[in-house]
Amino acid sequence: MEQGGREEEALTGGGRNDYNPGIGGVQIDGKGIGMKKPEITVARRIERLPVYLFGQINALKTAKRHAGVDIIDLGMGNPNDPTPAPIVEKLREAALDPRNHRYSASIGIPNLRREAAKLYQRYWSVKLDPDKEVVTCIGSKEGFSHLCLALLGSGDTALAPAPAFPIHVHSIAMTGANVIRVPIAPDSLFLSKMADIAEHMTPKPKVAVLNYPHNPTTRTVELDFFREVVKIARRHNIMLIQDFAYGLTTFGNYKAPSILQVRGAKDLAVEFFTLSKGWNMAGWRIGFAVGNRQMLAALARVKGYYDYGIFQPIQIATIIAMRHCDEHVKQQAKIYERRRDVLCQQFARIGWNVRRPRATMFVWAPIPKALRKMGSMDLAMKLLEEANVAVSPGVGFGEEGEGYLRVALVENEQRLAQAVRQIGRASRNWTT
Ligand SMILES: Cc1ncc(COP(=O)(O)O)c(C=O)c1O
Repeated sequence: MEQGGREEEALTGGGRNDYNPGIGGVQIDGKGIGMKKPEITVARRIERLPVYLFGQINALKTAKRHAGVDIIDLGMGNPNDPTPAPIVEKLREAALDPRNHRYSASIGIPNLRREAAKLYQRYWSVKLDPDKEVVTCIGSKEGFSHLCLALLGSGDTALAPAPAFPIHVHSIAMTGANVIRVPIAPDSLFLSKMADIAEHMTPKPKVAVLNYPHNPTTRTVELDFFREVVKIARRHNIMLIQDFAYGLTTFGNYKAPSILQVRGAKDLAVEFFTLSKGWNMAGWRIGFAVGNRQMLAALARVKGYYDYGIFQPIQIATIIAMRHCDEHVKQQAKIYERRRDVLCQQFARIGWNVRRPRATMFVWAPIPKALRKMGSMDLAMKLLEEANVAVSPGVGFGEEGEGYLRVALVENEQRLAQAVRQIGRASRNWTT
């Protein structure tokens, strides 16, 4: 507080009561201003948000780092490899051109949307009209939140996965709509629950959120699953929002399907795609919403009020990313695949039985029986305290995530192996 006060003084260049703007020509008594502390009341939509479960872990992580401890941080899905050089080079070149310094288009420049349409055609044989079926977003998280705002409001209901990437739940809650969590495993349970809720609930859910390949569980599906979802959605008039963040972060022969490959999906579905993962462009904040025209028009309308578009050099560099970097994307997926193998092998060595995922940049590790009683939150804290390894507790993604830890593949193979050794060493003491 005191420091803030001093900084404010330095900026305004004077004492507290020197600033006296007056209202309508009447001078305000400086003493009076300081008497009553104004009450700050935030909106109910903010109050509805739950306590941030990762806060405690982040605070300890920061404290340890300040104390000089080397933390192996596998908590967040924040890519640690660089953006491919041609993309950075194009950004540099485009940033030097003053014509690119102005406000840009909120939905993205036409050539960029055209390139996104070509990418969908190339990878998934999905045809998109770049003018009506592609909207550029400031990362898919922004687009997802604003699409929820465009489609939902108080009195509405939406289905969200359980467990879930937090924004899939909270961006629905922020609109004032009700969230119904649907367990995603097994697939048959998800489908029957979705159909059951749609059949018996009044009012019917308006939107269902999907996320395959899934964060945090790494669950993957085949096109037939999406066919079933679309069938239920059509029958009950439910709009679908599918988050495809890990669409190109896939391993072995597995190819993740786009929901838009299903015939008729474009009548009710929007899919989010991002450059954050495949191209290591997380900090650049760029992604796309593609699919249903009316849903996208509503998103574009909200965005038109809220933003002026992404810095144009980033959009120009992203054209290069999508046009020339297929091989980089493939190699990046291979890097995650090798890390996955190392991590799972090491876990097996310390007696943790961890399934190898077919996609994403995570491993979803069941907590061994001997440690399960502790709960994923306490275990994650203890791992940070005593093993100097940060991971995400499964419960942070909802109750259904309890019993698991999510480990992000965002360190090199040696560091990942080291992390598991440290986990093994520390946790041996807890079980004896
Ligand atoms: C499922 C999922 N969706 C969206 C995002 C965020 O993507 P973006 O960087 O495009 O906002 C993430 C990031 O971890 C994610 O895991």
